[in-house]
Amino acid sequence: MKILAIDTSCDETSVAVTDSRRVLSNAIYSQILIHKKWGGVVPSLAKRAHEERIDLVINESLRKVNLDPVSNSFPPVLATTARRRDPFLFATQINKFDFIAVTQGPGLAVALEVGINKAKELAEKYNKKLISVNHLEGHIYSPFVQNSRGNPNREFNFPYLALIISGGHTEFVIFKDHLKYEVIGRTLDDAAGEALDKAAKLLGLGYPGGEVIEKLAGEAGNSDFHKFPRPMLKSDDLNFSFSGLKTSFYYFLKKNNLVIPLKRGIQLNGSPIRSGMTKESKYNLRQLASSFQEAVFDTIIKKTEKAIKQTGIDRLVVGGGVIANLYLRKLFRNLVKKHNGEVLFPPYKYLAGDNAAMIGVVASYKAEKGMFIKKVDDLDRIPRMQF
Ligand code: KG4
Ligand code: ZN
Repeated sequence: MKILAIDTSCDETSVAVTDSRRVLSNAIYSQILIHKKWGGVVPSLAKRAHEERIDLVINESLRKVNLDPVSNSFPPVLATTARRRDPFLFATQINKFDFIAVTQGPGLAVALEVGINKAKELAEKYNKKLISVNHLEGHIYSPFVQNSRGNPNREFNFPYLALIISGGHTEFVIFKDHLKYEVIGRTLDDAAGEALDKAAKLLGLGYPGGEVIEKLAGEAGNSDFHKFPRPMLKSDDLNFSFSGLKTSFYYFLKKNNLVIPLKRGIQLNGSPIRSGMTKESKYNLRQLASSFQEAVFDTIIKKTEKAIKQTGIDRLVVGGGVIANLYLRKLFRNLVKKHNGEVLFPPYKYLAGDNAAMIGVVASYKAEKGMFIKKVDDLDRIPRMQF
């Protein structure tokens, strides 16, 4: 079942070609460089960049598919020509798909719109059925996505305790069966990735912050030198709250004279890491990054342990940009070892962050159940979409 899938939920324009659980190609155009200087995603810039790039990313995804031409597929030579957007060849290729899939939400309204409009246009023009997908379902399915050779071959063994940890979401979901979910906990304010991004900003490390914090924390041996507060651990529910941690981090920096007000925001005194930085301040920066990361991750792990105990489910699936973090993966592995359970992560790094491949894979399960959009014109974005 071949699907052309589109995701423009935030700051990545992504288009994938999937065949059931297999990804035949996945093209991502990241807007990070556009938003970096503003310290976060600027909606109007995101919209424009999606609009400017979506056709190119579709072409790139088609071009990357490299299948046997006889079996309903895309010979590379056709695909290369299609990059120049020969309308006939483009149509030939699109016509080989069974369905078009697109992310409906949650995400930035103006960004979602671009992908949805393109998907509608293609569905109407090429007379294809359209499937809408919840972006969060994509993150939940991401550990089951396979490469074109069918690896890894993971069987579904329901129910799972699913955890989505991204820049926009931190949610516990019972993944009961295909397309059946029950949310049992979520963040009441900032998401885990957002907290890391905000801490990185305070430390003058730029945007997004998760990856650079991981690197600095690793250099500090993932130490917990400052022991920042662990939010919500005393509460019995499975909700998170990271804004208090961010505030206490800010006041810690301020009290210790580590921040200096700048015209645009604040910046750690003496950072970002640059030549001329003293050994001592580098050490401080690493300790600060590491201790903040530890507070976030320790909270996630302890809450997950609580969730395992409350639900009795010790098989975990974890998706979302933050699970690109190798140290966090290790913490999860240690946790499930303690409970004789198992944990599945997205098998390839690009599947942790936003991508259209996971959207195409969810869409194939929806197609099996006949869950198509009845009237293409009716499909609209849902920026605050939930399960
Ligand atoms: O899933 P994602 O790409 O987008 C959303 O749907 O939000 O997640 C982006 C988030 C950002 O907050 C980013 O800082 C975080 O994932 N992230 C990481 C790492 N790589 C990306 N966090 C921790 N460690 C990483 N290596
Ligand atoms: Zn996401």
